Amino acid sequence: MTGMDAVITSIEERGDVRIFELRAADGSALPPYHAGAHIDVTLGNGQIRQYSLCCRQPSGDSYRIAVKRDPKSRGGSEWLHQEATQGHTLTLGEPRNAFSLRPSTGMHLLFAGGIGVTPLLSMAYALQRAGQPFHLAYFIRSEAENAFADETQTGPLAGHVVVFAGLQPQDNAARIEAIMQTAPASETTVYTCGPTPFMDAVIALGTTRFGASSVHKESFGAAPTAAGAASFTMRLVRSGRDIDVPAGSSALACLHAAGIAIDCSCEVGVCGTCRTVVLDGRPEHLDSVLSDAERQANACFMPCVSRSLTPVLYLDL
Ligand code: FES
Repeated sequence: MTGMDAVITSIEERGDVRIFELRAADGSALPPYHAGAHIDVTLGNGQIRQYSLCCRQPSGDSYRIAVKRDPKSRGGSEWLHQEATQGHTLTLGEPRNAFSLRPSTGMHLLFAGGIGVTPLLSMAYALQRAGQPFHLAYFIRSEAENAFADETQTGPLAGHVVVFAGLQPQDNAARIEAIMQTAPASETTVYTCGPTPFMDAVIALGTTRFGASSVHKESFGAAPTAAGAASFTMRLVRSGRDIDVPAGSSALACLHAAGIAIDCSCEVGVCGTCRTVVLDGRPEHLDSVLSDAERQANACFMPCVSRSLTPVLYLDL
């Protein structure tokens, strides 16, 4: 990934969460962004991870990201919690935004699960600055998990935020539904970020009350689809080999298992590192990298997440 160098200028420890301030290494202004945006961060161990930008007010001076310690980490949060120190240089991609606020003068309901609060905090500040009606419901396992207590309970957003700590999943749904009932059925927009079951509950309840087009969720990676259940064959044209991709396996994993070296990094379809040339057949593009024109051209695909709509996909390998 090409990008800009940024220095970690401060680290705040808040329980299981570390909050990083990043500034351009050469002192220049950082690229602008809007609430809901995220950046690719290349870590000191070479891995690329995506983090939402969660500043109070977007500025070219610095970015703020928050990273929760994840025991199941594939290396990203572990590195940022154990290895990263003030003064460390990271490489950042340009901010990208697939989760922006939609123009609306109606109510905005923001539903956050755990560390998923980060893009929604940016949205809450943006809505406050714009004088638009909003409500942030923040679901956490315990009060101690609220890494943003100063901003959500006593800070400028406090009057707009309700924190639910320690609820069971079935209780979450009841609270989510109760909040939705307080908002008008029309002209209300819903945003959610958090663990998948939490977002699924918000999406199901929000779709019932407000309609599917009014409900938006954060998703850095590609969503698994039913197509993941279909097998297909990769024909490696240059080497004359056939490699089967069984249901539930990724094409990238099958290539690696067959001894084919394909560079990869994010493994969730957002960085473009594993881009592979397609000579024939029709990929099912499940990445977040390619433009619409590139998808229609079908000249390449991201084997870490994408699959095939045709029984055989012919690759330039
Ligand atoms: S490894 Fe990042 S898109 Fe495939």
